[in-house]
Amino acid sequence: MPSLPRNDPRQYDDLAGEWWRPGGEFEVLHWLAEARAALVPPAPRPGAVLVDAGCGGGLLTPHVESLGYWHVGIDLRRSGLEQAAARGVAAVVADVAALPLASESADVVVAGEILEHVPDMPATVAELCRVLRPGGLLVLDTINATRMGRFVSITLGERFGAAPVGIHDPELFVDPGELTAHCAKNGVRLKVRGIRPSVPGLIRWLFLPPGPRASRLGHLGRMVPTRSTQVLYQGMGRKSD
Ligand SMILES: C[S@@+](CC[C@H](N)C(=O)[O-])C[C@H]1O[C@@H](n2cnc3c(N)ncnc32)[C@H](O)[C@@H]1O
Repeated sequence: MPSLPRNDPRQYDDLAGEWWRPGGEFEVLHWLAEARAALVPPAPRPGAVLVDAGCGGGLLTPHVESLGYWHVGIDLRRSGLEQAAARGVAAVVADVAALPLASESADVVVAGEILEHVPDMPATVAELCRVLRPGGLLVLDTINATRMGRFVSITLGERFGAAPVGIHDPELFVDPGELTAHCAKNGVRLKVRGIRPSVPGLIRWLFLPPGPRASRLGHLGRMVPTRSTQVLYQGMGRKSD
């Protein structure tokens, strides 16, 4: 079978068995999901809606299920959505650049590791902000469009298994200044901060092959804040009332 072009979402179908495999290709996504969820407050009222844009296999679920939201997951690929649905996500097949949701219907919009995959970042940001209620919270993380972002995510990441080969197109990586400006245009004042893997987690992941020993140490793998936004960063902001 010819290999798919870089960033082709159909790659996620071939990788469907990886979403929840301990020590698998998506392990770093689990660390990112935990760090992202830590920015989400408990639901402000019963029935509050959290929209998980580009939810994949639903890696956010274990970290937000106790917060009390109705968790709606949007993704292009059914193979991931089925796994998210099995974990309680209301799963919807759709493009994040054209959300099939009413304006101002979400209390929280989460966009984890998705903006670096979309061909039209400004249109996607406008959609994410459109569905957010006034006062609602946008939480995101993505890869910076710097030389360092490309080196770490593509050159190192693909060589050492932090990201499946071909999953990213470095041309789509996201400049935080541009992102912040597009959010502002759509009523959200975004603040960004850098994140990186914790050193013990990184050492365990690099040098200990997947297996029972690695699984016992799995909790070491996590993301921590860092001053530099050069590679990975989180963003968070509320929509103006
Ligand atoms: C890197 S994964 C992130 C998954 C999840 N947010 C997480 O952090 O675990 C990117 C996901 O975005 C989905 N995706 C890519 N482009 C999309 C688009 N335009 N609309 C909706 N989903 C998209 C892919 O199918 C994949 O599940």
